[in-house]
Amino acid sequence: MELRIDRQALVPVVQQIVDALACGIRRNEVAPGARLPSVRKIARVNLLNQSCVVEACERLVAQGMLESRHGAGYIVAAPAPGAMGHQDAVWFEDAEIGQGPSLCELQLGFGSLPESWRESDDLAYAIREISRTDMAGLFNYSSPLGLPALRQQILKCLKQLDINVDGSRIMTTAGASQGLDLIVRTLLRVGDCVVVESPGYPVLFDLLRLHGVSMLEVPRTPSGPDIAALEALLLRYQPRALFINSFHHNPTGSSLAPEVAQRVLQLTKEQGVLVIEDDVYADLHSGPGKRLAALDDRVIYVGSYSKTLSSSLRVGFVVACTEVIARLAEVKMISSMGASRFCESVLARLLANGAYRKLVQRQRQRLNSDRQTALQLLEDADWEVFGKPAGGLFIWARSRMPDYAQVRTQARRFGVLLSPTTTFSAAGVANDWQRINVACACDPRARAFFQATAADRPQAF
Ligand SMILES: Cc1ncc(COP(=O)(O)O)c(C=O)c1O
Repeated sequence: MELRIDRQALVPVVQQIVDALACGIRRNEVAPGARLPSVRKIARVNLLNQSCVVEACERLVAQGMLESRHGAGYIVAAPAPGAMGHQDAVWFEDAEIGQGPSLCELQLGFGSLPESWRESDDLAYAIREISRTDMAGLFNYSSPLGLPALRQQILKCLKQLDINVDGSRIMTTAGASQGLDLIVRTLLRVGDCVVVESPGYPVLFDLLRLHGVSMLEVPRTPSGPDIAALEALLLRYQPRALFINSFHHNPTGSSLAPEVAQRVLQLTKEQGVLVIEDDVYADLHSGPGKRLAALDDRVIYVGSYSKTLSSSLRVGFVVACTEVIARLAEVKMISSMGASRFCESVLARLLANGAYRKLVQRQRQRLNSDRQTALQLLEDADWEVFGKPAGGLFIWARSRMPDYAQVRTQARRFGVLLSPTTTFSAAGVANDWQRINVACACDPRARAFFQATAADRPQAF
């Protein structure tokens, strides 16, 4: 039973064994009632200490997935009736990737940093500190615009991006998702039409659909939206708004070139179109480049800490003019009584003590190095790359193998899960480009997959 333990990962080895065994059980690799291989065998095959394997098995016994029988080792337990389906557990990954259950496959197009990349020490410390010393943080509602201490810290970070605003122009949200939701609910109406980028962020498409807003797709180029196409759409349809990822666009990883940014602002200003800049990957960017919100006060800017610190804390924010922020805050209070003060307090502490800044520095460094390796792997396998991204999480690429079904078969063979071909199109149009998460691309399964797609190409003489 091969468990694929990663000794470089930050996830403790025992937890990795628990995850791998649980995954095998969920996938029915060992049926209910059957015996697991002996502890000694699992340890020998995977070069593990036997005590780690025992500890992992005992945790699975406590979770009801294994039974310990004297003299018979560990037996896979029958699932309890009404137990939570693992679809529930992976809903978010699957919602974005759009695939069926897939707990132990490598999601090559995963939308965040994998768990093995996350760092919990400073976060756990801040959580303990808030629990011990900040009773308001533990028990009270937050204020409509969000915790002042946090907003002050975010404003300092925004200043470094040349986004200079005061405290009345920023409001915290439960992740960027709540920010986008409030913007759509408050500023758009059923029947409005807006421009979205294609390919683009699928959950935004669903949100707009949910609110009866129709979408016009502007093609994304490696330097931003296709300006000629954008101009034609604005002139012909007079949409209400443009939703755009300026840096490290999801899914292509591309960023706005300065001249494209200027043209976007000029065109939208001329046509009176709202610009919503969704910059959730901002902190994974280390190079130069101006945000639209730094160039024009009209832009509504959405940020988040999901991609760096934790997707679970659910802290994000919106920057807009004072009147828009006041309207959004009203809807936020009516619909949710505000954001989580506890999570806001934890984040404020990590921003104030410098731990967050150091965390993102480490993440950028590691991503930069893995991005170089990933680009090399893709080049060696002769994949076509859509503009080489200089930062962020994603590379957008496609194999040159003529039959895409074969690419998917190869992926499955190596335990790699690809995104469905229609995921990133608002109109559901299929294409053969893949979002590749840099943090997953150097995994041995991904390397083997890329190599196989190279080997499968017809050989030149
Ligand atoms: C472009 C984009 N916007 C918004 C979000 C949602 O972020 P959050 O977790 O902060 O709600 C994501 C998450 O994947 C994203 O990729």
